Amino acid sequence: MKVIRDAKELPRASDIAFVPTMGALHAGHQSLIRRARQLTENVLVSAYINPLQFENKSDLANYPKTPLNDEELASEAGATYLWFPNENDLYPTGISEISAGEIGQKFEGASRTGHFNGVVTVVNALFSAVQPRWALFGEKDLQQLFLIKKMSEMLHPHISIVACETVRDVDGLALSSRNVRLNPSDREAAAVISRALKSAQGESELSTKLQSLREILSSEKRFALDYAEIVDGETFEIASETTIDQRAIVAGWINGVRLIDTMSMNSSRVNVLVSP
Ligand code: PAF
Repeated sequence: MKVIRDAKELPRASDIAFVPTMGALHAGHQSLIRRARQLTENVLVSAYINPLQFENKSDLANYPKTPLNDEELASEAGATYLWFPNENDLYPTGISEISAGEIGQKFEGASRTGHFNGVVTVVNALFSAVQPRWALFGEKDLQQLFLIKKMSEMLHPHISIVACETVRDVDGLALSSRNVRLNPSDREAAAVISRALKSAQGESELSTKLQSLREILSSEKRFALDYAEIVDGETFEIASETTIDQRAIVAGWINGVRLIDTMSMNSSRVNVLVSP
C-alpha cells in the first residue's frame, strides 16, 4: 500500500474505488475497503478530519487520531493507496461551500447546524481530486449517504455511490470511531439502540414500530434521545404506512458521546457482526 501525502501523487486510473474516511479506522471501514477491493485493484482510502462538518469544537478536538493504526488497518483490508489530504490539496482555489439543502437541516442536521453542508463540501472536493469510478459509504450514516448521493448525482454523475451494510459489534452496537469514548457501562447502555431498532423491525404496522422504538429507547435512562423516526429511504421525508422503503433513524447521547444508528424496517436483514 502506498501512503500519499501530496495530492500530486494521486493515481490517475479510470477504475478507482474510493473510501473517504476521517481516519480512526475500524472494522467498519475495513469492510468498506474489502467491498471496494471486490470492484477493482485500485482502492484509494482518504483520511481527513473535516473541520467544516464539526459544529462543536470540542467534538472536533476530541475526534480520535490514529494515523499509524489507520495505515495498518487500511493495508490489512487491501487498500492500494492511503491518502492524508491537507486543506490546500482539497481546496486549491479556496473553499466553495455546497449546500445540502432542506433535508440537510432535518434530523441530524437540526442538531448539528451546518454539519451536512460541511460533509457535501468536503466530499465534493475529495471527488474532484480523486475522480473515482465508485465511492463507498456505510449505511449507518444514512442521511449522509442520502445527501452525498444527491450531491453526486448533480455534480459527479459518472461516480457510482455504493452503499454498504452497517457493521455491528457482537452486542449489536454499530461500529463508529466515537465508540472508543464509551466506557464499559456506557457501552452496556448503548446496546439499547440496536435492541430498539430490531424490536421495531419485528412489528408489522408503522405506528407500532415507532411506538416500540421509542418505548425501548426511553427505558434506558442513560440514553438521552435526540430523535427516533421512520423515514422514507427514497425521499428522507417522514414515512407513512404506504411507504415502501421504511428506514428507522435514531440519534442521542450517552455520557456526552453522540451515537446514531439506522435499520431498514422492511426486512429482517441481519447486519454483519464482528468480534470486538
Ligand atoms: O463519514 C465520514 O467519515 C465523513 O463524514 C466523510 C464522508 C469522510 C466526510 O468527511
